[in-house]
Amino acid sequence: MDKPFDLHCIYFSAKLTTKKYVESIANAINIANTTFHDMTSATTIDDIEIPASSIAIFAAPVYAGRIPAVAAERFARFKGKHTPAIIFCTYGNRAFDDALLELKDLVTANGFKVISAAAFVSCHSIFPNIAAGRPFAYDIKDATDFASKSIQVLTSLGSIANAPNVMIPGKHPYRPIENTFFFAPKRHKHLCDHCGTCARLCPTKAIDAETLDIDTAQCISCGHCIAVCPNHAKNFGGVKYQVAKQMFTKKFGAAICHTDTFYAEDI
Ligand SMILES: Cc1cc2nc3c(=O)[nH]c(=O)nc-3n(C[C@H](O)[C@H](O)[C@H](O)COP(=O)(O)O)c2cc1C
Repeated sequence: MDKPFDLHCIYFSAKLTTKKYVESIANAINIANTTFHDMTSATTIDDIEIPASSIAIFAAPVYAGRIPAVAAERFARFKGKHTPAIIFCTYGNRAFDDALLELKDLVTANGFKVISAAAFVSCHSIFPNIAAGRPFAYDIKDATDFASKSIQVLTSLGSIANAPNVMIPGKHPYRPIENTFFFAPKRHKHLCDHCGTCARLCPTKAIDAETLDIDTAQCISCGHCIAVCPNHAKNFGGVKYQVAKQMFTKKFGAAICHTDTFYAEDI
């Protein structure tokens, strides 16, 4: 197959590390006509068709071993027509469980053909001392190598319809959705100037535009309000959070997870 004419990058990235990987991979693929579809903030969009002459990247963080439900909902608006797709998830040094498989199933059901998949490690978005500072340079090198190999695999395929299936770890039925580590970010009133950025950009519209209070039933602990606050007025905190952080650090703080990659190629 020829190298595609355009590239569509469809992603959800609350704490912006998935976005970093998306940008590195898009740069390495280097197609002049590249469009970024940031699906992080609450948006309503019509269905978007991505033709077979294009290539799509779908990327999301892992939440409790799954793809965030809001990301899955938004990604489903993109429809392929046997369009090749590169998929990846980022995770915070614990595990990606069924997330990558779920992402593959989702995009396949929407008309895409997955040619490669990866799981990359990022700084944990709730406990930022876990995998602190990642992606490092070596993670980005893994990502750009993954991009080059994905294009190599694609261009070596006779036809997309006959491409070998990409084998991805994970189980059906997927891990049940759970909210074990639920923490709504705290707002430090002395730093907050009520600009409303957090409310405007919250992925689930969980923040009241007037009071800036969080509706804990809507909040998914993604931390986007922390990442976008221009005054650094928000963070995770509180006794329950500190206890969970200690426990989590004990279990997952020492091990160092690495990139996993999977390709549509005959073994
Ligand atoms: C609600 C929630 C659940 C998470 N669950 C997991 C998990 O199951 N395994 C893991 O390794 N990291 C988990 N993480 C960490 C994120 O997957 C990781 O930090 C990711 O790279 C964040 O991407 P972002 O910076 O683009 O938002 C979780 C984060 C959140 C907010």
